[in-house]
Amino acid sequence: MAVPLIAPSLLAADFARLGEEVEAVAAAGADWLHLDIMDGHFVPNISFGPVVVKALRKRAAIPFDVHLMIAPADPYLAAFAEAGADWISLHPEAGPHLHRSLQTIRALGKKAGVVLNPATPVESVAHVLDLTDLILVMSVNPGFGGQSFIESQLPKIAALRRMIDDSGRDIRLQVDGGVTATTAPRCIEAGADVLVAGTAVFGQKDYGAAIAAIRGAPR
Ligand code: DX5
Ligand code: ZN
Repeated sequence: MAVPLIAPSLLAADFARLGEEVEAVAAAGADWLHLDIMDGHFVPNISFGPVVVKALRKRAAIPFDVHLMIAPADPYLAAFAEAGADWISLHPEAGPHLHRSLQTIRALGKKAGVVLNPATPVESVAHVLDLTDLILVMSVNPGFGGQSFIESQLPKIAALRRMIDDSGRDIRLQVDGGVTATTAPRCIEAGADVLVAGTAVFGQKDYGAAIAAIRGAPR
């Protein structure tokens, strides 16, 4: 099985020590940092905004993977780009024109991602693959960390892997929600190449060992 990239989700970190947490997880071998942006409207929780992303940007050199759970998202894309996001992903349900939103992210010089909720079909991304650098499969309903992995998303990951391979495009396939050392191999087997993990990293004492366990390969 291929070795996936691991993107720890800051949502499970100690919010009183965010800067130190970012440094620690980068030093522990995280490939990317996943930053969950929630508005209390698109999802029933509120996290943080571009000011916090900008402040944390100085603490590590790894790519910042910003997962927008806000609606509308379009008015804030430039702010997250300026704050230091490298990847910006949004849900098709967050606005009326997904194609235009992806164009905007690309025009800002950033990598563009499409996030599919558990009930959102793979077809939602089929006609925008030319503007997509990453597809994120939500394996929990977005809004909270620490939820259980939704099994029905495994065949969806496999279907998206086929769609990406058939397209011949360079598109990352990411999974987010309930990813642990137990569920990770099944995601990788289905075709995922980037795994987001919140609780399974920040909830552990040894971040390096936790990341290595999810990655499933010797460091
Ligand atoms: C949920 C977020 C996830 C969350 C994952 O809305 O998108 O990134 O932090 O947390 P765990 O890994 O604990 O399920
Ligand atoms: Zn996320």
